[in-house]
Amino acid sequence: MNFSLRSLNATEASYPLASAWNSFYRREPDGNRHRTENYKAASIHFRSGHETTAVALTWTWYLLTQHREIYQQLQREVDSVLEGRVPTYQDMARLPYCLQVFKEAMRLYPPVPVFSRAALHDIVINNYLLRQGQAVFLAPYTLHRRTDSFLDPERFDPERFSEANEQRLPRGAYLPFGEDSRICIGKHFALLEGPLLLATLAQRVTFELVPGQHIVPDLRKTAALRPSHGIKVIVRRR
Ligand code: HEM
Repeated sequence: MNFSLRSLNATEASYPLASAWNSFYRREPDGNRHRTENYKAASIHFRSGHETTAVALTWTWYLLTQHREIYQQLQREVDSVLEGRVPTYQDMARLPYCLQVFKEAMRLYPPVPVFSRAALHDIVINNYLLRQGQAVFLAPYTLHRRTDSFLDPERFDPERFSEANEQRLPRGAYLPFGEDSRICIGKHFALLEGPLLLATLAQRVTFELVPGQHIVPDLRKTAALRPSHGIKVIVRRR
């Protein structure tokens, strides 16, 4: 989907999504526009939920194209469980490898690579004094590569997220959705949506990386972790 806020003034016929977006505003008698409750809900979904999931899947497919055996194992699970049917919510419990692959991809490429907190009052944490208002940055991108939490951390290995192995992870070692009171409200939805899309696509098409690309994450942006120059793939029907 190609969604652009620049198309806000477009006509309904040309840009149905822009038209939907316009309906989230209320025109007051004084001529000013005000955001409705629907605007807030849609904004949360698109801004926080759309791009994060999109980049998570981008990196997941990139990693799968680089790891043939893992890709084949995922295809075997999808084919044997679904037997050609379109996957549904009920199938997800029987597609654990899809979830493991998705989680492991987010370990190496967390869609939100850095998030922050501000101290509400002076506080000492591990001998560091933080003054009121000072910011602390937490970086899942580096946290997820710590050798004291993950053996051979650069290796893509979905077995880290088998039920038994995941339980052994140290608390706070894996934070793609943040933690505690400000944890991502879309976490459970994303952990359903991501593997469901993965299964749906794996069932129908194959992805092959176009050779000769320089694929690196763009860590300079504060938004979701995109590849610097995109990722080109050849898509074939299975
Ligand atoms: C793979 C997908 C996603 C990832 C990796 C992700 C990650 C995150 C992270 C790291 C935070 C900040 C947590 C913190 O500061 O401790 C966050 C917050 C948030 N996310 Fe997500 N998210 C994803 C999908 C979604 C979806 C699908 C929705 C909504 C449908 C959503 C809605 C939100 C909202 C509203 C917040 C702000 C929560 C607050 O400040 O209290 N996210 N997300």
